[in-house]
Amino acid sequence: MEVIIIDILSRVRSYKEEVDSLKWEGTFEEYLGIIKERPEVAQTAHSRVYNMIKSSGVEERDGKKMYQFFGKEIFGLETALERLVEEYFHPAARRLDVRKRILLLMGPVSGGKSTIVTLLKRGLEHYSRTDEGAVYAIKGCPMHEDPLHLIPQHLREDFFKEYGIRIEGSLSPLNTMRLEQEYGGHVEDVLIERIFFSEDKRVGIGTFTPSDPKSQDIADLTGSIDFSTIAEYGSESDPRAYRFDGELNKANRGMMEFQEMLKLDEKFLWHLLSLTQEGNFKAGRFALISADELIVAHTNETEYRTFISNKKNEALHSRIIVMPIPYNLKVSEEERIYAKMISESDMAHVHIAPHALRAAAIFSVLTRLEIPKKQGIDLVKKMRLYDGESVEGFNSVDVEELKKEHQNEGMNGIDPRYVINRISSAIIRKEVPSINALDVLRSLKEGLDQHASISEEDREKYMNYIAIARKEYDEIAKNEVQKAFVYSYEESAKHLMNNYLDNVEAFCNKNKLRDPITGEEMNPDEKLMRSIEEQIGISENAKRAFREEILIRLSAFARKGKRFDYNSHERLREAIQKKLFADLKDVVKITTSSTTPDESQLKKINEVVARLIDKHGYDSNSANELLRYVGSLLNR
Ligand SMILES: Nc1ncnc2c1ncn2[C@@H]1O[C@H](COP(=O)(O)OP(=O)(O)OP(=O)(O)O)[C@@H](O)[C@H]1O
Ligand SMILES: [Mg+2]
Repeated sequence: MEVIIIDILSRVRSYKEEVDSLKWEGTFEEYLGIIKERPEVAQTAHSRVYNMIKSSGVEERDGKKMYQFFGKEIFGLETALERLVEEYFHPAARRLDVRKRILLLMGPVSGGKSTIVTLLKRGLEHYSRTDEGAVYAIKGCPMHEDPLHLIPQHLREDFFKEYGIRIEGSLSPLNTMRLEQEYGGHVEDVLIERIFFSEDKRVGIGTFTPSDPKSQDIADLTGSIDFSTIAEYGSESDPRAYRFDGELNKANRGMMEFQEMLKLDEKFLWHLLSLTQEGNFKAGRFALISADELIVAHTNETEYRTFISNKKNEALHSRIIVMPIPYNLKVSEEERIYAKMISESDMAHVHIAPHALRAAAIFSVLTRLEIPKKQGIDLVKKMRLYDGESVEGFNSVDVEELKKEHQNEGMNGIDPRYVINRISSAIIRKEVPSINALDVLRSLKEGLDQHASISEEDREKYMNYIAIARKEYDEIAKNEVQKAFVYSYEESAKHLMNNYLDNVEAFCNKNKLRDPITGEEMNPDEKLMRSIEEQIGISENAKRAFREEILIRLSAFARKGKRFDYNSHERLREAIQKKLFADLKDVVKITTSSTTPDESQLKKINEVVARLIDKHGYDSNSANELLRYVGSLLNR
């Protein structure tokens, strides 16, 4: 224990040393020296956010940009995030008009909106500690005012010519007064310091949460008169008698999160609008106060529709930019979301059997998908295609077409938090800290009855999706066990396929084969080839065409110098797998379902369980459960 404490303390210390080493203080004159060399220091809040996102790296995949800034926490929303960056942050950083609008993330419950906002906040805190993201402010200013505001309006054009930096906004009433009283009007002497964004310390990052609309005070946003000092300064309009400590003041230079914005009273919204539109807001009895900050709000679709359907909100509406944040629609990404949420929860110690999260993910994604209109595609195929799996007869062009069928897809369905809650209640019910796909699906199903906000119609649909998820899982479970029965599945599959290919080659070229042991010449083994082909329904008449096609594929691979392996031909792979499993079926069936296994069966079971644990990620409890389940499936 002691060791850990010492380690933590030394890390706290070294962090403090690091922060201390970043501190900087100097005169405005010295500050101008800094921005001459590194003009990025003087960038706007929007530009800083954009550069921060870019600095984590951008990956191009299939013509789509993936921003790694979000990648560790947000899964499956690449398209929405690309749009957010390309349509808001990027143009806003270039001082285009969107910057003057409030950014409103709109999406269904638990779809990751708050997570995105939190990422931006934590990101900014970190970025302000780097060289590229450094921020400087007038020392002692509660709003960490931009030092460049000290440059008088009439000199700004010349300043731009010399420094290439545009200055927006005017010196605040407080600093105007301080300039006169503390610095005798000498701009060059004004003290500047480097600041570090911190939500806890209320520097550059703010959060506004509405309270009761009747008692909500505008002071929460724009600060308030400090009655204790009025006597000292003589008047309410002396800026020193005002506390510039509203959320809008504190978030200056960085960003502010607006929770439940659309529930807010109009008079609050107007302040925001003036701020975003004109870059300033009104506080107390002072001239307008300039501020530069990104304002992000979030809402769900219903709330948003109510808001815009109200005529009174029309003007507000045109000053908001709405970015949809839909649910993730890829099964494997959904699994990652659950795994992340579980690792962050108090369930982290529980053994989650392989495919348990996948089964739940299949269910959730199905509830979010719209029924496809395209010929020959059902919901399950669409789900596979969206997840990047190959589905016979369809390609990536089809996937794009499917996506275009429903522009608004992903705004409805089951949310991740519901799934996590159901997993958690399944765990509570079980005595052992281990949970499998069947437990999860059962719990999801039971939960639907208690779920108040699901319509009768949806409930029925959802029950059906659970049945589909169960069927998908059954296939996965059978495969898993059958593979575990073979000493080395990959080896066996490879061996069987090579054998098949040798025979196909001889058959097509009308050659003979040589027996590897006796060296005798033999005819191609028709029985073996048919036993494989029949697994995928290739008829006697179609066999020649199938074999020739395989041979063509084989030589195409050879020409390109690529290895043809057992994954190179989708249907052949399926045939080989089915053949292997068919040969095994009886053994698996008898072994797994026998209530009084004999010695050799027992040995086999132990071997299989050991393999499931070592190679496939089960614990002994879930491995035994899996075997029993598959036994019952095979005996149906
Ligand atoms: N696409 C996703 N990638 C990663 N995690 C996600 C995703 N969608 C949801 N989550 C997780 O689900 C949980 C809920 O997300 P979050 O609170 O960000 O949603 P929200 O949209 O703000 O919801 P609400 O409307 O209820 O406020 C979080 O733990 C979050 O990490
Ligand atoms: Mg939220």
